[in-house]
Amino acid sequence: MKALILSGGKGTRLRPLTYTGAKQLVPVANKPILWYGIEEMVAAGITDIGIIISPETGDEVQAKTGNGERFGANITYILQEQPAGLAHAVKVARPFLKDSPFVMYLGDNLIQQGDLSYFLKQFQQQHQDALILLRTVDNPSAFGVARVDQNGKVLELIEKPKVPPSNLALVGVYFFSEIIHEAITRIKPSARGELEITDAIQYLISQEKQVLAFQLGGWWLDTGKKDDLLEANRLILDTSLQTSISGEVDTQSQVIGRVKIGYGSKVINCTVRGPVIIGKDCYLENCFIGPYTSIADNSTLVDTELEHSVVLQGAKISGIHQRIIDSLIGQRAQLTLAPRRPKALRFMIGDDCQIELS
Ligand code: DAU
Repeated sequence: MKALILSGGKGTRLRPLTYTGAKQLVPVANKPILWYGIEEMVAAGITDIGIIISPETGDEVQAKTGNGERFGANITYILQEQPAGLAHAVKVARPFLKDSPFVMYLGDNLIQQGDLSYFLKQFQQQHQDALILLRTVDNPSAFGVARVDQNGKVLELIEKPKVPPSNLALVGVYFFSEIIHEAITRIKPSARGELEITDAIQYLISQEKQVLAFQLGGWWLDTGKKDDLLEANRLILDTSLQTSISGEVDTQSQVIGRVKIGYGSKVINCTVRGPVIIGKDCYLENCFIGPYTSIADNSTLVDTELEHSVVLQGAKISGIHQRIIDSLIGQRAQLTLAPRRPKALRFMIGDDCQIELS
């Protein structure tokens, strides 16, 4: 059994963060989203992992993730020149996959830990041609959608339908036998110009192949947008964070609940109410850090109140007199109180930023 993790694509929905980096490397609880997928594979016993990369962000993904040693896996990087669709990615990966059955995992998706092992077992025991996962969602038009009969048998799959036939979305985790390669040769690019894996699975269904669908009981998030990313951060901190304080916390500070503070970080006169993760070499003074916040390495926060937010590496926040909530602050971003008069708002805002002032 092999795994194919897709870490190519354009990442338009997480702009501006993805102008300078891969969306699959945006951290959730201070760990790149992509790494959760790799860890899930290894936990399920799959260590031969191919990762699809794009020309734009491939080097960064490769440099950060390495050859797999740190995960106990063997990683092969596969360059996809164009984001020409999920089925196109499988086509490009054929020399790596050969005729092995494989799990395909979208690198910006997160599913509840442990679920992958269970579905892998089902796929292997029941000798299916494909196994897909479905989950009810409120906005099915944003996903691949399944039409199923009363017995749960999949009758049809449609990619991002304007009028969805159900609210059952295709989760970004698929199990395939080698027969999928034949199906991919039979499909044509969709209206958006992509070779859709949904169409390839639909081809299998039309050929009466064994396509099994399970409804996912645990949580699943496609972290493509800010609010989904914050929700993923909340869920991971809620379910997996364990207290560990390696940095310095002075006697004036209060640390309540599950909090992790990395080496070299200093916390001075702050209240930190977990679950909160603070990376390495951060400096926090006179701050309130509320639940569901992740602060990445080398960040500086002074006279700041922050809650339910994700701060990326090297950001600086100081002297903001209102509590910051539900926010995503990019690498090296600076949010400070103006040191000089006139008292006014001064901005240097990158393309596609969103700022809400009260
Ligand atoms: O999240 C689940 C949904 O994922 C499914 O319900 C849809 O059926 C499926 O098509 C897919 O839709 P998205 O619009 O969310 O796919 P996206 O373009 O965001 O790509 C998903 C991942 O695959 C992302 O990590 C980028 C990567 N990718 C994407 C394309 C199009 C590649 O590596 N190569 C590609 O050519």
